This record gives sequence, structure tokens and C-alpha cells, in this order.
Amino acid sequence: MPATILVIDDNPSVATALEILFSLHDIATRRAASPDEGLALLEREAIDLVVQDMNFSADTTSGEEGRALFARIRQRHPDLPVILLTAWTHLESAVDLVRAGAADYIGKPWDDRKLMATVANLLELGASRRELNRHRSEQAQRNAALHRRHDLRGMVFADAATERLLGIACQIARADVPVLVTGPNGSGKERIAQIVQANSMVKDGPFVTLDCGALPSELIEAELFGAEAGAYTGANKPREGKFEAADGGTLFLDEIANLPLAGQVKLLRVLETGSFARLGSNRERRVRVRVISATNADLPAKIAEGAFREDLYYRINLIELRLPSLAERPDDILPLAEHFLSAHDLGTGKRLSRDAREALRRHLWPGNVRELKNAIRRASLLAADDTIAAADLDLPAAPHAEPDRTQIEQALARAQGVIAQAAAQLGMSRQSLYRRMERLGIARG
Ligand SMILES: Nc1ncnc2c1ncn2[C@@H]1O[C@H](COP(=O)(O)OP(=O)(O)OP(=O)(O)O)[C@@H](O)[C@H]1O
Ligand SMILES: [Mg+2]
Repeated sequence: MPATILVIDDNPSVATALEILFSLHDIATRRAASPDEGLALLEREAIDLVVQDMNFSADTTSGEEGRALFARIRQRHPDLPVILLTAWTHLESAVDLVRAGAADYIGKPWDDRKLMATVANLLELGASRRELNRHRSEQAQRNAALHRRHDLRGMVFADAATERLLGIACQIARADVPVLVTGPNGSGKERIAQIVQANSMVKDGPFVTLDCGALPSELIEAELFGAEAGAYTGANKPREGKFEAADGGTLFLDEIANLPLAGQVKLLRVLETGSFARLGSNRERRVRVRVISATNADLPAKIAEGAFREDLYYRINLIELRLPSLAERPDDILPLAEHFLSAHDLGTGKRLSRDAREALRRHLWPGNVRELKNAIRRASLLAADDTIAAADLDLPAAPHAEPDRTQIEQALARAQGVIAQAAAQLGMSRQSLYRRMERLGIARG
């Protein structure tokens, strides 16, 4: 579909000259002779770009009318690209206005080639913004639908990858099968376990957690299965284990890779038979427990080393929920940051500056959501005023490595070939993305 440009200028010869120029480039032109006429037309018709004059009454040269018009366009159409046609004497005020983004200025008299380059740039930018907004609002609708249907335990997310994972988690939650949640440190595995529990058939039952990494191996079995008095040194009264405590509910085995081999054998047996005995007792006890395990370890590698039993592995991961690292779901970063900010600053209303947002998006978050939470907490304490600047976040300013072929191809595919959008995803300018693609011989796709 050819683009349509609205020219708002009271001088008919300017409008005509532009109309002819644009028609040579297959661009349709609509004309308005006054700000009000232009704004009315914007309400009625689909316009891709506005070229506007700065003065409309014969006796004014201040540019005030142009500023007011620009502000009104921005208010109603925040993403619509605008080119300000301005006399050279008013360049400075135009420069100020275009800082607002999706806008540029051209001095009168203009140079056709320069004007058309600006038009092409802004049209592409506008198209990619519209595409991005459409994508965002679809995603937001899907997320809202998921929230309506399921208890997501306050999980904050906006990325399509997270949404897919949550969809699967809620879908399998009702089946009575063991689930293994894998993912790097601090990515939110415990959150996912809680979501599975909250949407399961045993959601009203207990949710009992055992951190298999936190106890010395001698105590883990007693912790899991309980012990009779005298079963081991220091056991002077009988104690209930986590399996008993979790009967009719969910047992969350965190850091399962740290479970010693002897405990693994016993765990396998409970999972297979539903029964176990306390330490120091022969009495078999039966329980109904939904087991959810979590680990950030590479279990297949542990199996190869002989540190984890293969048969147990197949038992616990009938369903594996693989939680991506935060860097693999970048659209979650800012919503999470906002969430932690409002949770931490107790209504003092601190805001993230634009630079801070960019720095958050660019950082690779090796510590994932936990690192982000801590960074926001620290920054909101350190910020001198209401705005959190990039420096308050204290993230390493390491110039990030040039993206490789795969990263570029993936970004292009996600952006459906729109260079401006792919560049934004990669955190680089369009020009440097073009240069990089040329060097690697990547076609635009
Ligand atoms: N999507 C989310 N929305 C809100 N808070 C989150 C989200 N994901 C994680 N968190 C918070 O981030 C922190 C880390 O999450 P969690 O403890 O679930 O991670 P984990 O993967 O279990 O980490 P570890 O590997 O260290 O055990 C917690 O404070 C958790 O509440
Ligand atoms: Mg955890």
C-alpha cells in the first residue's frame, strides 16, 4: 500500500511543490491549509507522515503556531512521524521539538534529496513502530487472557517466551505427574513451581519445600522421610518428614541435583510406589504427593558423571518446564523493573530515566530476575532525586560485543525484516546494523 503524507501549510505553492515531489516517489499527498484543518483530517484518514509548516498567519514568524500544532499532533498520535518545515532562523526551536522522537526538521528552502531521505527514514520508522505496537498489544491481550483463566501468583511478564512457558505450566498443572523446572539461577523457578501448585487439583493442599542443597547429606533422608526416636544420634523424638507433611498436596524439591545418591534411591522408590518408611522403622506409610523438582544444574551431565541416577531423572521430569534466562526473554525486563520499583519504593514514586531503561534492556543479567530485583532496590536507595539514572544502576558499561550472524538473523526474523526494529532489538543503530550485515554478507531477508 503506498504511503500517504499530509502536508499542513498555508502556502499553496509549497504544498503543490511537495505534492509533485512525493508523487514522483509513489507517495500520495493530502493537503491542509491550517492547523485545525490538518488535525481534523488526521482524525478522519489514515496518514503515515505529516509535513508541517511552523507559521500560518501572514503576520507571524515566531513558530509558535507550529509548536502548538506539533504538540497537538503528538498528543493524539504519539507515534506518527512528523517533519517540520522551518525557516533557518528557527532551527533551534525545531531541534528542541524533534528530540521528542519520530520527528525531523528540514530547512526552507529544502533540498529534495535530503527531504526524500528523511521521508523514507521516518516512514520506515513509523511502520516498524506500528508493527511493534500491534505486536505489543496482541501480547498484552494474550497475557491478560492467561491471567483471567489462571492464578499466576503475581508473576510479572510481557515476553512471548514467558507467556508460552506459563501456558504450558497451567495446562499440565492439573495432571497428576511429576514436573521438573529447570533454568538458571534466580530466573524464577520457585515462582513457576508455585504456579503449577496453584492451578493443580491439590491447590488447597499443603505446599512443602525442601531445599536439597541446604542440608548435610546425613540429615536429608530424615528430612524427607522422617525418623523414629533413636534412628540416629540426636533423634530423641519421632519426627515427621516432608513427604508426610505434604500428603494431599505438593512437595517442592528445590536444587534436586544436590540430593545424595542414597536419598535418590529412596526418592525413586516413593515416586514409584507411593510408600516409604521413616528412618529406624519398617512401617510403610502411604502418601499422595505431587512432586515438583527444580534445578539449575545440567542433569544429563550429572548422570554422565555418575552423580545423578538416570532412572530417577526419567521419573521426575515426565514434564520439564525450561525457564529461559532473563536475557532470552528481554521483553520481561522493563515490566519486572517497574514492578520491583513500585514494590520497593513504597509509593515515593521514583521513575526510571530513559537512559536507565536502555541500560536495563542492554544488560545481560547473568543473575537473572534476582539480580534485576537487587539492582532496582539498590538504585532506588541511591537515586538522588525522583529519577533513577543509568549511573544509579551501576551496571557494567562494557561495550557489548558486536552481534554475530545468528543473533542478527534471529533479530531480523523476529522483526520480519524491518531493519529499524531489528537494530533496536540488538541495541545498535540502523547504520551500524547495515554495515555489520554487509560485512557478514547477510541479505535483508
Ligand atoms: N516473573 C516474576 N515476577 C515477579 N517476581 C519474580 C519473577 N520471577 C522471579 N521473581 C522474583 O525473583 C526472585 C528469584 O526468583 P526465584 O527464587 O523463583 O528464582 P529461582 O530460579 O528459584 O532461583 P535459584 O536458582 O537461585 O533458586 C524471587 O524474589 C522471586 O520472587
Ligand atoms: Mg530457587
